[in-house]
Amino acid sequence: MQYDSLWLPYAQMKTVPAPYRVIRAEGVKLYLDDGTVLIDGISSWWCVIHGYNHPYLNKAVSEQLAKFAHVMLGGLVNDAAIHLAETLVRITPSGLNHVFYGDSGSVGVEIALKMATQFWRNKGFADKNRFVALRGGYHGDTTGAMSVSDDDESMHRLFKGAILPQYFVDAPGGVNIESEECQASLSQLAELLRTNNSQIAAFILEPVFQGAGGFRFYPPEYLFHARKLCDEHGVLLIFDEVATGFGRTGTLFAADLANVNPDIMVLSKALTGGYFGLSATITTSQVYESFLGDDADLAFMHGPTFMGNAVACAVALASINLIETENYLSKIKAIEQVLREEIQGLSGASLCDARVLGAIGVLEFECPSNLIGFREFALQRGVWLRPYGKWLYTMPPYVISEKDLRQITAVMKEWVMKY
Ligand SMILES: Cc1ncc(COP(=O)(O)O)c(C=O)c1O
Repeated sequence: MQYDSLWLPYAQMKTVPAPYRVIRAEGVKLYLDDGTVLIDGISSWWCVIHGYNHPYLNKAVSEQLAKFAHVMLGGLVNDAAIHLAETLVRITPSGLNHVFYGDSGSVGVEIALKMATQFWRNKGFADKNRFVALRGGYHGDTTGAMSVSDDDESMHRLFKGAILPQYFVDAPGGVNIESEECQASLSQLAELLRTNNSQIAAFILEPVFQGAGGFRFYPPEYLFHARKLCDEHGVLLIFDEVATGFGRTGTLFAADLANVNPDIMVLSKALTGGYFGLSATITTSQVYESFLGDDADLAFMHGPTFMGNAVACAVALASINLIETENYLSKIKAIEQVLREEIQGLSGASLCDARVLGAIGVLEFECPSNLIGFREFALQRGVWLRPYGKWLYTMPPYVISEKDLRQITAVMKEWVMKY
């Protein structure tokens, strides 16, 4: 490979195919150095929701840069960080009132786990330091986040034994809450919380859509029952909305699909419209107030260097403004309609399932080998998609035109027909 000094993500560097070199990106298009133009069907790992090189977001960046890029949040603040915190409190489910910034989804999750553990410690329950998570979940690549991602099936399974063991319940699924998968998961959760609540700080899950662990949807009512069980057993509920936040499942937050309010919510990815790494871990007054007091050990001893970066916060504010003023939920609805028309219920020799929710379309094949060669196949047809495992999915930028979206789905369908 020609880029020896660059270590690529999730790749066997001995055999990884050479990556394509992007020299320009505009709207939903990626321009490669050999002249190829590609429609981006996965929004650069789901974050570039407004497309690339967006004039309004660029302006927000330039205006903040003209003042300054960054000041530490220790002892200093900046207007963008303050306004973004106020805005996030306004738009997230009610009761979430306090925002702690980080710089990536994984770090946002680490902050949530640490916050939940210390909440219980501060209240005199130091043994409540373990977590329950869903099988098939994915929460990031740092050690705390790895510990609550699927323990057996995920890319982190090699580390079993080396990271903190946690509790897992089967993932919910099916079309409604009466489904066997939902009922089994809830029974396991009830039993686990009943017997182990003295050790459990929180239940963490990706609401409604499990992303990198299996591109799976489950009924929103599950969240309502999970909330009830957590309340009954004195366990906090954490929603990891790193992937679902900002419209991906059709409502601004997946929590809105069920009208369920978590104790802690984590946002990242689309928070800055894909411009910079930034996360927000947002919590309730009840959690926040447990950190107040005269004892120095009550305080939350956490502070990533780049938390509240002024340029990242300024572009996040501009991104939320676009979502609110340009009726993005209707754009997402239109994407969902096309995806349902084109790929929902599709069948093919090696295709197991074809499903759609919001701006997410998923084709699940029998095994990863069914997707060998797909990347080049799509590239020759002007589309950028990156299958993961046995899943071929699209999560396009919300600004995509119907024509470009149908080009993406045509490529997905052609592959199903051919193979
Ligand atoms: C639900 C969820 N949580 C956390 C993460 C980790 O985010 P990051 O890659 O920014 O660390 C991801 C990334 O895909 C995610 O999908």
